[in-house]
Amino acid sequence: MAREGIQTWDQIHKQLNEATEYIHSQTDFKPTIGIILGTGLGSLVDGIEMAGTVDYDKIPHFPVSTVESHAGRLLFGYLKGKPVVCMQGRFHYYEGYSFQQIAFPVRVMKKLGMETMIVSNAAGGMNPNFRAGDIMVIKDHINFFPGNPLIGPNDDTWGDRFPDMYEVYNCGYVTLARDVALKQNLRLQEGVYVGLTGPCLETSAEYRMLRGFGADAVGMSTVPEVITAHHQHNKILGFSIITDMGLADNMHPCSLEDVIGTASATEPKLRDLIAGCVEGM
Ligand code: HPA
Repeated sequence: MAREGIQTWDQIHKQLNEATEYIHSQTDFKPTIGIILGTGLGSLVDGIEMAGTVDYDKIPHFPVSTVESHAGRLLFGYLKGKPVVCMQGRFHYYEGYSFQQIAFPVRVMKKLGMETMIVSNAAGGMNPNFRAGDIMVIKDHINFFPGNPLIGPNDDTWGDRFPDMYEVYNCGYVTLARDVALKQNLRLQEGVYVGLTGPCLETSAEYRMLRGFGADAVGMSTVPEVITAHHQHNKILGFSIITDMGLADNMHPCSLEDVIGTASATEPKLRDLIAGCVEGM
């Protein structure tokens, strides 16, 4: 028996089939790389040779983004000659979606052919060596969400009941990102991302605690999608744009405009970095 509100895999497969059938009726594109674009990063798709788009609100069972800075469509095309699908707009727990709803698009991308997932987000920096406008390659994460997309029945043909969390963020890809950043003369930070619900930013005491737990950056996304992708055996590369600093002993007010402004200003650098990494994959 599934707990109320948690779907069985029969239901999940049925919904995945209906969603992918609709997408296949719109495009026969076969992406191997899925890219999730975070807050203020929607125009990362410049540089993609477009092959088609499908709006989220047309796809059966797909959640619809409520955040204004997110476009809400799947974009198919070639990046450096590789077939990619981009999620322009993602789903956050703070919007009211369940973890299974957040997982759904990641599972759809797997059905479409995704082998590698690249994920980006806007995050608050807690490592004092960081500054706003830095890019951090994610080496590991801490799940501070009050749940997990894998809670509920498991389909052993889709993924393990108890996935081990060894090298969730592919080490080869971290090395690749380092090499590409060096070639592009880009200062690339590395670190641990902690994901929690939001929508409040953190208090000074919370920043101190999270830093003490070993996190370098904090945000409200990424962890549920990454757990979902890891469960289904995707290789993962993740980046955070450090949009503001959360230093417990040096707090400043931080507005959404600041976050989006810094994300947009840093976007061209992240776009080139992602393009370089895709080229090297
Ligand atoms: N916390 C703090 N600062 C941030 C966040 C967050 O979750 N996201 C972007 N900047």
